[in-house]
Amino acid sequence: MRHTLIAGNWKMHKTLPEARELVTALRAGLESLRGGDAVEVLICPPVQLLFPMAKAVAGARIMLGAQNAHNEPHGAFTGEVSVPMLTDTGCTHVIIGHSERRQLFHEDNALLARKVRAVVAGPLTVIYCVGETLEERESDRTRRVVGRQLDEVVKSDVPADRLVIAYEPVWAIGTGRTATPQQAQEVHAFIRERLSATYDKPTASRIRILYGGSVKPDNAAGLLSQPDIDGALVGGACLSPDDFLAIISIAAGLPRK
Ligand code: PGA
Repeated sequence: MRHTLIAGNWKMHKTLPEARELVTALRAGLESLRGGDAVEVLICPPVQLLFPMAKAVAGARIMLGAQNAHNEPHGAFTGEVSVPMLTDTGCTHVIIGHSERRQLFHEDNALLARKVRAVVAGPLTVIYCVGETLEERESDRTRRVVGRQLDEVVKSDVPADRLVIAYEPVWAIGTGRTATPQQAQEVHAFIRERLSATYDKPTASRIRILYGGSVKPDNAAGLLSQPDIDGALVGGACLSPDDFLAIISIAAGLPRK
C-alpha cells in the first residue's frame, strides 16, 4: 500500500512571521481533520525558514523538506547549501530537479543524478521531479523526455524506499492549466512501468508518484483518485492554509491504493 503524500512547495515565498502564521493555521486545521492520518503532509519552505519551521511543526504531523541542495557535502560554493547542512535542520525530504531549477538555473540530468545521490547518501528522501514542456507534449515527445529524465538519473543504486517521483508537466506549473486526470494517469503509469524496469515490479509498485501543476481543491479529487497518482506536489495553493488543508482533506477521504 502506498501512503498518500501531499507536499507543499513554497518556492521563494513567506517571511518568518508569514510562515509562522501559515503553519499555525495548518496545525490547527490538521488537528481537527478526520481521517487525516491516512495522508502524509510535507512542507518545503525556503531554506532560511527550515530551522524555525522545524520548531513550528514539532509534535504535529507535518514533515519538513528543502527545495534544492548542492551535490557536494561542503566546499567553496558561495550561496549554496549541502545535504548534511539540510539534515541538521531536521528536514527529511529534498526536492531535486524541479522544472524551475532545470529551466532557470540550467540544471541538467547529469547534475541532477549527482544531486539525487547526494540526498540519498544521507538519511533523507528525494522527491525527484520530471515533466515535459508544452512544445514537447505537442510534438508527442512526452514519453521520450520523461523517460530520459528517469533513465539518466534514477538507476537501481538509488534506494527505492527513499525515492518519490513528482510528475509535473511544465505547462501546468503556475499556469492554472492542469493536466486532465487521464493525461496525468497515462504518464504516471508510464513512469511506474519505467521504474519496474529499473527495479522490479513489486518495488516499483511501492514507489510514490506525485502529480504537480496547478493542483487546487477543485481539481484534486479527480487527479488523486487515479490509480497511479499517490499524492500531489502543490505550489500556489499551498500558500493558503485553507486551500492546502482542503487538498489534504480530499486526499484523506479517498480510498487507499
Ligand atoms: P503550482 O506549482 O501548483 O503553483 O502549479 C507546482 C510546483 O511547481 O511544484
